[in-house]
Amino acid sequence: MLEVLNHPLITHKLTQMRRKETGTKDFRENLDEIAELMAYEVCRDLPVEPVDIETPVAPCTGYQLSKEVVIVPILRAGIGLLDGIRRLVPTAKVGFIGLYRDEKTLQPHEYFAKFPKDLDKAVVMIVDPMLATGGSALAAIHSVKERGAKNIKLVCLVGVPEGVRAVQKEYPDVDIYLAALDDHLNENGYIVPGLGDAGDRIFGTK
Ligand code: PRP
Ligand code: URA
Repeated sequence: MLEVLNHPLITHKLTQMRRKETGTKDFRENLDEIAELMAYEVCRDLPVEPVDIETPVAPCTGYQLSKEVVIVPILRAGIGLLDGIRRLVPTAKVGFIGLYRDEKTLQPHEYFAKFPKDLDKAVVMIVDPMLATGGSALAAIHSVKERGAKNIKLVCLVGVPEGVRAVQKEYPDVDIYLAALDDHLNENGYIVPGLGDAGDRIFGTK
């Protein structure tokens, strides 16, 4: 399943991020706000269970989330989405996977991994602003599946058909959410039009 979250507020903020003159502070703030807006949609199908409660007026049956949510940002750039999602799901646990893309081969290299227990019972949200070749997303999905994850959502800001196809081919059970589906990858593996190097723009490196 691929869902592109076409929402005027998301598109407006993403356009600010795409502008080359947007600096680190505004880039980060817009990303944080988009993450919160995306989380609202991504969480739409979270499972709930009935719970008997009493309001000040009468007993009634309410509903509460029935599964733990684990957010897994792909370091570094995925960190930019973490706080916005956590504002909506404050009880979420957080796992980390560190991956960098070799500039020449475009292959991902893992340098860190730390996850909460019981991924098999959780809804696992892998988050990263960019879905380019899909190599990093595939490596992250592989890593959480190895640890038992079954219900996986991939949440990215900007993707391209190449990356979407790669994930869908290998992991058709993973739901993909994007704020925008861009046109193509250039010869250096950058998304066109994209927004440049997300990690560098979030953290002010380069
Ligand atoms: C970027 C981005 C993704 C990856 C996407 O990370 O944040 O993780 O590239 O590219 P892919 O789909 O072709 O794998 P990068 O490797 O630049 O690391 P960083 O987050 O530390 O900047
Ligand atoms: N990683 C980025 O940060 N930007 C791209 O356009 C592609 C991969």
